Amino acid sequence: MKLLVTGGAGYVGSVCAARLVEEGHEVVVVDDLSTGHADAVPDGATFVQADLAEAADDLLADGVDGVLHFAAKSLVGESMTDPAKYWDGNVVTSLRLLAAVHRHQVPRLVFSSTAATYGEPEQVPIPESAPTRPTNTYGATKLAIDHAITSYANAHGLAAVSLRYFNVAGAHGRFGERHAVETHLIPLVLQVALEQRPKVSIYGEDWPTEDGTCVRDYIHVTDLADAHLLALKHATAGEHRIYNLGNGTGFSVKQVIDACRLVTGHPIPAELAPRRAGDPATLVAAADRARDELGWKPERPDLETIVADAWRFTQGRTK
Ligand code: UFG
Repeated sequence: MKLLVTGGAGYVGSVCAARLVEEGHEVVVVDDLSTGHADAVPDGATFVQADLAEAADDLLADGVDGVLHFAAKSLVGESMTDPAKYWDGNVVTSLRLLAAVHRHQVPRLVFSSTAATYGEPEQVPIPESAPTRPTNTYGATKLAIDHAITSYANAHGLAAVSLRYFNVAGAHGRFGERHAVETHLIPLVLQVALEQRPKVSIYGEDWPTEDGTCVRDYIHVTDLADAHLLALKHATAGEHRIYNLGNGTGFSVKQVIDACRLVTGHPIPAELAPRRAGDPATLVAAADRARDELGWKPERPDLETIVADAWRFTQGRTK
């Protein structure tokens, strides 16, 4: 298939673009490099550095078989202090893209949605039927785009899939996570192992969980990318399907730090810090729908494998 990958110079986008190229698809990556890296675009993909909202029409004019839409602002904390950046950067840009997708009769769309659309869960593991009450602007913007996609599928026959990621981690060979502003737990802990920071903070030890620290469902980025390949294949005209992507197992912040100690052999000093605003205690996916309907089977669910791949990538970047 000929595919447009938006945000394909970012972490998840670059891994998915690499998997698509590996599978023989013709890939065009568009990215404004506001947070991505040009050298993360895989060999074999065509790279266009551009503002997506402005370039969407030109990029789709020659006809493409599908769009995978990763480009987004994705820092939860920043979304609360600078909402305009998220409503413009995520919603306005995606609406422009959707209009162009319709104008150029692109048949399929796969969208990066998020567990943050659910907010504080009533039920864990969280099924796709759970209420969507995002507790932060980031989640609200992604949910708004999900609603717009449903309208386009219903009105115009678009074959659409939204994938709701839980906590993505790990690396795919030379493609991995490198944010200018790092806020995610695993890369931060690995920076301690590399002695780039003295210690890691644990945001609260008084959560209603077994060891008192927050529990998350970590998913290997390669498994996540593979779900996109399946979503492309199974997307059905006139339907907007939504799938959670997680392993269905929760690990606490302390368990993550312990796994990092084991993988790196570094003692990784940790200190207790206040709770971080907006953090739910436990987020774990019920991902049976992706398994049943897409035939998705995560092959790297083990936390140590996820951390080991992230560690290999992080070490490789410092050499
Ligand atoms: N944490 C710490 N110390 C740190 C960093 C994080 O204790 O230095 C904790 C957080 O409080 C949280 C857990 O580690 O309990 C994981 O935090 P991350 O920042 O790695 O990930 P989040 O669960 O906050 O967010 C992720 C994605 C978001 C997405 C969200 C869905 O990064 O984009 O899941 O809920 F919106």
